[in-house]
Amino acid sequence: MGKNIIIFDTTLRDGEQSPGISLNIQDKLEIAMQLARLGVDVIEAGFPITSEGDFKAVKTIAEEVEGPVICGLSRAVRKDIERAGDALRNCKKPRIHTFINSSDVQIKHQLKKTRKEVLQMTEEAVKLAKSICNDIEFSAMDATRADINFIYELVGVAIENGATTINIPDTVGYSMPWEFGEFIASIIKNVKRSREVVWSVHCHNDLGLSVANSICAVKNGVTQVECTINGIGERAGNAAMEELVMIMDTRKDILNVSTKIKTAEIMKTSQLISRLTGYQVQPNKAIVGMNAFAHTSGIHQDGVLKERTTFEIMNPQKIGLKESKLILGKTSGRHAFSKHLGELGYFLNEESLERAFVRFKDLADKKVEITENDLEAIAQDEKRISQKETFVFESIETSSGTGKIPQASIKLKKDDKIISAKADGDGQVDAVCNAISRATGIKTKLLVYNVSSITSGLDSQGEVTIHLEIGGKRIIGRGVSTDIIEASAKAYLNAINKSIQLKEK
Ligand code: KIV
Ligand code: ZN
Repeated sequence: MGKNIIIFDTTLRDGEQSPGISLNIQDKLEIAMQLARLGVDVIEAGFPITSEGDFKAVKTIAEEVEGPVICGLSRAVRKDIERAGDALRNCKKPRIHTFINSSDVQIKHQLKKTRKEVLQMTEEAVKLAKSICNDIEFSAMDATRADINFIYELVGVAIENGATTINIPDTVGYSMPWEFGEFIASIIKNVKRSREVVWSVHCHNDLGLSVANSICAVKNGVTQVECTINGIGERAGNAAMEELVMIMDTRKDILNVSTKIKTAEIMKTSQLISRLTGYQVQPNKAIVGMNAFAHTSGIHQDGVLKERTTFEIMNPQKIGLKESKLILGKTSGRHAFSKHLGELGYFLNEESLERAFVRFKDLADKKVEITENDLEAIAQDEKRISQKETFVFESIETSSGTGKIPQASIKLKKDDKIISAKADGDGQVDAVCNAISRATGIKTKLLVYNVSSITSGLDSQGEVTIHLEIGGKRIIGRGVSTDIIEASAKAYLNAINKSIQLKEK
């Protein structure tokens, strides 16, 4: 088994800091529940002082999610710590995480303080946090660019005043793996009472080394790693949890460590994060990319068919990947359809189920094979639609051709009334988006437009992700259909509906 490594998930805090991601409380709760099923030890649910929304999200998760420790972030200042404490008041296993800049460049230019003042602030912050909660994590931000002797002193103060976990972040992803390993070993060796605390690392991926650095830290004595699902996070992101966990599992022969993660939940969690954040996973991403277990070369295929381990170091089933297979056909009824959705974890209300069933039948007419991925795509889309949207998509018609100006007509429903609009555009997608803007009266600026296929084959379902700027905010919308123009209309409308929700909030 080896030493247990604590998995501290910060998808909802550092992950949510990625540009364009804006999760509502319901999304955050759904993610936190899935993280609990995945078996993470700690969920950093948010940064309560930053907004009313973050405060409520941390509070809701603290009250409703059982199992993991729930953590709220705070700067080393009174109002942040008290706000985090308030959000965690009804939590069974609360943790306050307080941090302060530790490198001279940040202390001087960002904090505009001296090292002495930083030591003083740390003492006061940890003392205050300890008076509210027993489980206290302290982070020395930008530790890898700080003077190591100052780090000894700083974390020593945090320990003396009651911190129970000390986190050493590579905030700007600057360290080399061997350098980081030595840095960690020296800190653990030279800090007084270091055996009394849990040592943790938090690595960013600016040079693509976040996972390698975290693993080197584990090799050198840390027992907590901070990470996010799919590696999302500030700039180039954070260390990817699925990679860390599967490295520790696959190479336990030399690492001699283990985690409590239920690896069979990894794929599902990755897909949930991708769906709710709009951040798609690159096809060749380790562990959770769609090609991570796909073999193309004849030699590899031949080997795997003879014996899987010839070209596979992990069993795909271990991360919850199942081969897509034909599970339903044209002749299946409503009952079988809803049972299959239930087995996939989708329990739709009657109205959504009815709509999903019509879509499934329609798809079965067009497509030779209906796979589980197809079903999931329909169910996810219906789930999204059923989350009270101001404008509901009804239908579109488009026309275009060589030498003709592309045109689109859209029908939307708002409060049971049909709204129609027509518009031209540079292409069919542009015309559809213009028609929707006209119908809703909402002006947007298109930042990113991305189409991908959810399932394989020419008859597959397409997924469109759109990033729009609406009222100065970046909003992501998604839509699914076998028709790319329709998927684009749904994605565009999804972003507009989100912007309305955001405004109402
Ligand atoms: O990257 C960082 O240093 C952080 C701290 C708040 C832990 O996110
Ligand atoms: Zn970070």
